[in-house]
Amino acid sequence: MQKKILITSALPYANGPLHFGHIAGAYLPADCYARFERLRGKDVLYICGSDEYGMAITMSADLAGRTPKEQADHFHEVNQEFFNHLGIKFDHFSRTTNEKHAPLVQQFFQDLHQNGFVQDKETEQLFSEADQRFLADRYVVGTCPKCGFEEARGDECGKCGASYESTDLKSPRSKMTGAPLVLKKTRHWFLLFDKFKEKLEPFISSRPWKSNVTNFASSYVEDIRPRAITRDLKWGVPVPLKEADGKVFYVWFDAPIGYISATQEWDSEAWKDYWCDPQTKYVQFIGKDNIPFHAIFFPAMIMGQNQPYKIVDDLVANEFYNLEGRQFSKSEGWTIDLNDFFSHFHADQIRYAIAANAPETSDSEFTWSDFQTRCNTELLGKLGNLVNRVLVFAQNKCAAKIPVQGELEEADHRFLNEINRLAAEIEESYSSYKLRRCSQLIMELAQTANVYFDAKTPWKDPKNETTIALCIQCLKALALASFPIIPQTAEKIWKMIGFQDSLESHTWKEILEMPLEGGKALPKPSILFQKIEDELIEQESAKLQQMHDQAMQKKEPPYAPLKEAITIDDFAKVDLRVGLILKAEKLPKSKKLLKLEVDLGFETRTLLSGISQHYSPEELIGKKVIIVANLKPATIMGVESQGMVLAGSLDKALELVTLENLPAGADIS
Ligand code: 2FM
Ligand code: ZN
Repeated sequence: MQKKILITSALPYANGPLHFGHIAGAYLPADCYARFERLRGKDVLYICGSDEYGMAITMSADLAGRTPKEQADHFHEVNQEFFNHLGIKFDHFSRTTNEKHAPLVQQFFQDLHQNGFVQDKETEQLFSEADQRFLADRYVVGTCPKCGFEEARGDECGKCGASYESTDLKSPRSKMTGAPLVLKKTRHWFLLFDKFKEKLEPFISSRPWKSNVTNFASSYVEDIRPRAITRDLKWGVPVPLKEADGKVFYVWFDAPIGYISATQEWDSEAWKDYWCDPQTKYVQFIGKDNIPFHAIFFPAMIMGQNQPYKIVDDLVANEFYNLEGRQFSKSEGWTIDLNDFFSHFHADQIRYAIAANAPETSDSEFTWSDFQTRCNTELLGKLGNLVNRVLVFAQNKCAAKIPVQGELEEADHRFLNEINRLAAEIEESYSSYKLRRCSQLIMELAQTANVYFDAKTPWKDPKNETTIALCIQCLKALALASFPIIPQTAEKIWKMIGFQDSLESHTWKEILEMPLEGGKALPKPSILFQKIEDELIEQESAKLQQMHDQAMQKKEPPYAPLKEAITIDDFAKVDLRVGLILKAEKLPKSKKLLKLEVDLGFETRTLLSGISQHYSPEELIGKKVIIVANLKPATIMGVESQGMVLAGSLDKALELVTLENLPAGADIS
């Protein structure tokens, strides 16, 4: 029986619109691979769907004034439409609110529980009385337990660099509403991942993953620990235990099971042929931030339950794809308006530009100028130009028919060999998920034909039609080879070389071996790609900058909430002095801290200050700053800090409070 190939792409969160950064990581590479394997006649199933649960959805829903369900419904539609537009062709696009999902997640849990892999434990977590909810670390801010910085994040202090548990923060509060948080006892269920260590180690080393994935997974497993898989939230799959009333599963417990439930929704019988057949090849496409969940947690979950589900074979984890030097960000206006984009450009243009510069081994980025070059120089200049010159020639000089191939010369044989060699290398590159290489080779194939056409000068000898016959053969190979990346264009070429059916209805091998029918009529060729003019690219770049500037203006700075009122006597307790910075140096091993030597007039102090990302040591020397001189010394990273330097900050900006004229040691009140 034909070996089955199951392909999944990371389920996108339904809490915001997707952008090209996501597409480059987990979707376009998977779609190209699925199209390629279908062409090779394989039994392929490509599954995806919306990831609808979790705190990220509830938080974004609150901000948007929607219920979590409304929020998920909305972005499920939006993202599905985006995929359609881009020609990402899933066999099924489901969602984790589908009715098969919750029972399956609960079954996983029950098996794991009965098999001794789950344990409950009482913990203390941060709770907002005002919102009646527990908050995850990333939604918590408070005062750093080490340096006293009042805007410290839930897990790490932005000022002194300390890392801690969010429960160690002083005066913790909600990042979203500023509401104070209290510690509250709550019971949670932990999956004992450590119990899978012995099975996971050989599993990871047996997989043919890229070394960065394998290395990451192996070192993670060395120190693998139990993790809570339940949450106190109203939005999620309920935990099926009486004593866990009101709790739901952590989104990373339920989401990967969504790959299976989505397949069950696709076909309530046939899903088993993929998921429960050890012969299936299972390939997952993800972004690199999802590696632990796919390389370790989901495999362990499958190992610990009772059904013979497939565990991932190939795990294709791509790096990040940015936009003009920084991450895509809707809130910062650093994004591309998709309606506008598709009103000017074709889906195949962006598919090609992403594939040709895919973030396979390191981060890469979309830039308008790269996009223009790829479209004009490669798609149009090499491929489009070849198709056009060959087919226009056939129209005008070969009676609009496929010419009959005559006797072959040495150069013709060389050309045919080159077509076959490149087609074989392209096939190999698709099967090893190398889209960049495929794009390069496709252009090499087009260029080989351009050079051959020029060298053979068919216009000098119109009776010798072999050159055109062989060029059309090359167009056939090009349509085939480019189909996974630019499917609509490939089909267009296919029709223009005289086929009435769809390229997709044939296999890779068939198409390569299929002889051309000499004498068959050719339709009138049309242009494949329009040139992208400089003005349009300039407009798009300007629009990006403008959207960004507007978003940054609108963005409300994160003003810190006002603190409790104090008396003048409270304030008088703080001894503020002018200090002259004598020396400044970076503290080794710390990203944020500088070690300062400060003259207070009557003595010299050593101070640590988390300003290294804002000031270089050189520019600080000679500055007069304000020091909290009676702060109790604290030892941070082995250095005793004898006081604190005052600085103002808002959002990401920070500035030291400096003076000009007063001498060191002067009292400030
Ligand atoms: O990172 C993300 O967008 C997650 N929603 C991916 C989930 S993948 C799978 F496990 F469902
Ligand atoms: Zn700190």
